[in-house]
Amino acid sequence: MLSTLIYRSRLRGDIDQASLAAIVTQAQTRNAELQVSGILLFDGHQFLQVLEGPLTSVEALFEHISKDERHDFVVELMRDYAPRRHFENVGMALFDLRNVKAHAVLKSVVKSSVVPFNLAREARVYKFIRSFLRRPDSQQISRQFQPDAWRVDRTPPRPLCPLQPAAADISCQFALQPIVEPLTGKIKAFEALIRTPDGGSPAAWFASVSSDELYEVDLHSKESAFALAKAVNIGSHMISVNLLPGSLVQVPDAVEILLAQIERHGLVPQQVIVEVTESEVISCFDEFEHVIRQLRAAGINLAIDDFGAGFAGLSLLTRFQPGRIKIDRSIVTDIHLHGPKQAIVHGIVRCCSELEITVVAEGVEKVEEWCWLEAAGIKYFQGYLFARPVLNRAPSVSWPIAG
Ligand SMILES: Cc1cc2nc3c(=O)[nH]c(=O)nc-3n(C[C@H](O)[C@H](O)[C@H](O)COP(=O)(O)O)c2cc1C
Repeated sequence: MLSTLIYRSRLRGDIDQASLAAIVTQAQTRNAELQVSGILLFDGHQFLQVLEGPLTSVEALFEHISKDERHDFVVELMRDYAPRRHFENVGMALFDLRNVKAHAVLKSVVKSSVVPFNLAREARVYKFIRSFLRRPDSQQISRQFQPDAWRVDRTPPRPLCPLQPAAADISCQFALQPIVEPLTGKIKAFEALIRTPDGGSPAAWFASVSSDELYEVDLHSKESAFALAKAVNIGSHMISVNLLPGSLVQVPDAVEILLAQIERHGLVPQQVIVEVTESEVISCFDEFEHVIRQLRAAGINLAIDDFGAGFAGLSLLTRFQPGRIKIDRSIVTDIHLHGPKQAIVHGIVRCCSELEITVVAEGVEKVEEWCWLEAAGIKYFQGYLFARPVLNRAPSVSWPIAG
């Protein structure tokens, strides 16, 4: 199968014209053996390369090139399949944009393409090349994206003595994980994550609850989360709890019950964030809409969890605009390497900025992921990079340090 792969990368250090030409000469021989064709664009700072050929050859070559130390931040932009090659000559054509004008590149690209002229202009390959020549905003990010300039303080926290659950109800416990603003060193909120009495996962806890009691038990479990917030003295920080929309819709007087729990533990509704997942909201939106109004009228904040993981995505925001959204970890993981994820996050950030919705990135584990997301305009983060959840405690945060 004939496949096409496009990536963008950043030059490490300097490269003179002779060395660049040497890469391409060597590439031409190897690519011809592998039946890979394509083009390499270089603007003095970044590369854009199109590789096309048999699927396995293209994948193996890309893996090989990605490891080349002469460039870094290799971001895959597109993988596609085509009935015919875009570029006739098997090998690799170089366009050094310091010596050749953008319109001349486009002209050669269309000319060297085997598909008819108009079709070539419609091809995504051609559009990627054109965008690279125009240097869109996304490429500016790579200049601000400086993960090498940061390290995260990994000093192991002092050993913690085991803590007892804060509430008398021992059918569940909670672990706290902070949501942080790394560049100011501030904790924004704590998320209370449910655990079984012996510390097991949320899935294990849900599995232990019978389906006819699910919503009641889910709602009443929040008592323990608020008790923990009081016990660890979260002060004026916010506390985030997860709730099934069904628990708010089906349990009579759910919002009053929640408000009473909040009050019993000396918290105020404005301090509380209720997180619901994107897929749950969209599946029962009409019933949930009434509850959203009640929660907001009482001063409780709403966040959409796992944003981007379900099928609703940005279209959900046409139906209601929560105060916060949390970008799902599946989008966050390795975002610095993945063009489609980057494009989605640019869209989310732009849309949420216009709607004054706070964006949190969750599941952040690598400095590179955090730096890329910061450069894209996100300020709030949650993930193992900064703090793991700790049972019945507020964990200490590993803050990033410059240099
Ligand atoms: C931006 C860039 C593009 C490259 N493109 C190719 C290519 O298309 N084909 C190729 O064989 N090598 C390419 N290389 C070089 C390879 O990464 C690698 O250095 C070369 O294949 C020699 O590998 P070897 O020393 O393991 O034989 C490229 C390097 C860079 C920095």
